[in-house]
Order: sequence, then structure tokens, then C-alpha cells
Amino acid sequence: MKIIAITTFLLAASLAYAGAPEGKALFASKCQACHGAKGEGKASIAKMFSVTMHPLGSKEIQTKPDADLKKTVTEGHGKMKPVSGLDDKQVADVIAFVRTLKE
Ligand code: HEC
Repeated sequence: MKIIAITTFLLAASLAYAGAPEGKALFASKCQACHGAKGEGKASIAKMFSVTMHPLGSKEIQTKPDADLKKTVTEGHGKMKPVSGLDDKQVADVIAFVRTLKE
């Protein structure tokens, strides 16, 4: 019983901090297949698209404003297609998570 209470508390606490934890789950389902768990970029995907994928935590990406990163997700960027199925809040959450990847 105690364990359940603690787990519930931790879950509630993490939900209260929305942003990054939710973004992490979204990232795992929507971005990780191509960008890797830490945003490092999958070599096989980079090869398939014949592009250089900058690690999402790198300076090249982190210096871009949120608006640009959101646009990448919603409208695509270069060889990356827009990511569908995310509402405004989810896009913001996923970007908040991308910010936590900063090297
Ligand atoms: C199907 C594979 C794929 C998925 C899924 C994907 N990406 Fe990408 N992403 C790419 C590729 C390939 C590039 C490099 C595009 C280029 O440079 O032409 C890229 C580039 C980017 C960039 C850098 C854009 C820039 O300004 O240089 C960001 C930021 C990014 N992706 C974020 C995301 C996020 C966040 C998600 C999930 C919501 C996501 N991507 C999902 C393949 C993917």
C-alpha cells in the first residue's frame, strides 16, 4: 500500500512538472526512431536521407529559437518531413525536452 502511495505521489509530482517528462515520452514515440534516445542522430537514417544530422543537443540546434524548432516539427526541415499527430502543447513539450538534451 505504501509503495502505491509513493508511486502515485511521484507520478503526480512529475506530471505537475509537465513539459520535459511529457515531452520525453513524446520524443520517444515521435522522434527517437530517427534521432536516437539522446538526440544523437541515427547513422542509418542520416545515410538513408544523405544528410548530416546534427545531434539535437549540439550548438547548431540549441542556438535556434524555439519558434524555429517548432517549425521543424510542424512543417519539416530539409529532408525531415513534418511530424503529424501533435497538438500545440505537445509540440511545446517535445521542444522543452529537446532543450534538456543540450550538451
Ligand atoms: C523519419 C525520421 C525523422 C523523424 C521521425 C524526426 N526527424 Fe528530425 N530530422 C530528421 C532528419 C533526416 C533531419 C535532417 C534534415 C536535413 O538536414 O535535411 C532532421 C532534423 C531535425 C532538426 C534540425 C533542423 C535544423 O534546423 O537543422 C530538429 C530540431 C529535429 N529534426 C527535431 C525533430 C523532432 C523534435 C522530432 C519529433 C517530434 C523529429 N525531429 C522527428 C529525421 C527525422
